[in-house]
Amino acid sequence: MLELQNVNVIAEGKPILTDISFKIPDGETHILMGPNGSGKTTLLHAIMGTGNIEIKSGQIIFEGEDITALPTHERARRGIGVAAQRPPVIQELTLATLVDLVKKAGNGAKNVDELVQTMNCGYLMDRRFNVNFSGGEVKRAEFLQLLVQDPKLALIDEPESGVDLDNIAVIGRALHRLLKQEKVLDRHKSGLIITHTGYILEYLNADRGYVLIDGHIACSGNPRDLFEEVEIHGYEGCEQCIRCQ
Ligand SMILES: Nc1ncnc2c1ncn2[C@@H]1O[C@H](COP(=O)(O)OP(=O)(O)OP(=O)(O)O)[C@@H](O)[C@H]1O
Ligand SMILES: [Mg+2]
Repeated sequence: MLELQNVNVIAEGKPILTDISFKIPDGETHILMGPNGSGKTTLLHAIMGTGNIEIKSGQIIFEGEDITALPTHERARRGIGVAAQRPPVIQELTLATLVDLVKKAGNGAKNVDELVQTMNCGYLMDRRFNVNFSGGEVKRAEFLQLLVQDPKLALIDEPESGVDLDNIAVIGRALHRLLKQEKVLDRHKSGLIITHTGYILEYLNADRGYVLIDGHIACSGNPRDLFEEVEIHGYEGCEQCIRCQ
């Protein structure tokens, strides 16, 4: 579904991502981890076409099409969606209007009322988007939009950060649903999920994980194994690890 080929990204003249290559096949969910500032969010920006960054070289291929230079809304139309680490505040729009726009823009969900209930967003619908929302409310509103969009590829940036355990369960179930993980044999939704804690793995089957260090992929493998190793040795241990030799 998604392939990155030797992608190099710069911002303000400085290299942020170096020679990033990986593939996410149809129906697979991959996990991205790495220390603060290693370039994880920048990688999602590169795929979605957002952020104040420049793709210096390399290709981003989505369903066989080179989307490296496509504007963000065209990427969204083709079926890429994002749940941002720090979503913007939009004074001019209520959550209800935004959700309605997302629904109209795509061939997204028909059952919006049920999704609003599932994400416990009913009381937020007439509020201006993210204005004075709590951390948990911001995340639930973000996932509501994503469920309504129902993208083929979901890019998720730290779904559990700043979220209490009950809300992690709500978001975990939303992710499970978004990625159609209940379908074992006929799964077509894909995901790329950034997480520091791995809590979200309790709700998902993740197929592969990557460790991003200083803007390059230092390691890849089974995500649960990677978390275990990082828990024991820290990210400092990564570059010395036998896997990297
Ligand atoms: N537009 C930009 N201009 C200048 N520097 C940038 C820009 N975007 C990102 N950076 C820098 O690139 C580095 C990677 O940032 P990024 O947000 O991708 O990190 P991250 O891995 O998501 O970190 P965290 O775990 O803290 O969210 C940081 O040093 C950041 O300051
Ligand atoms: Mg980040």
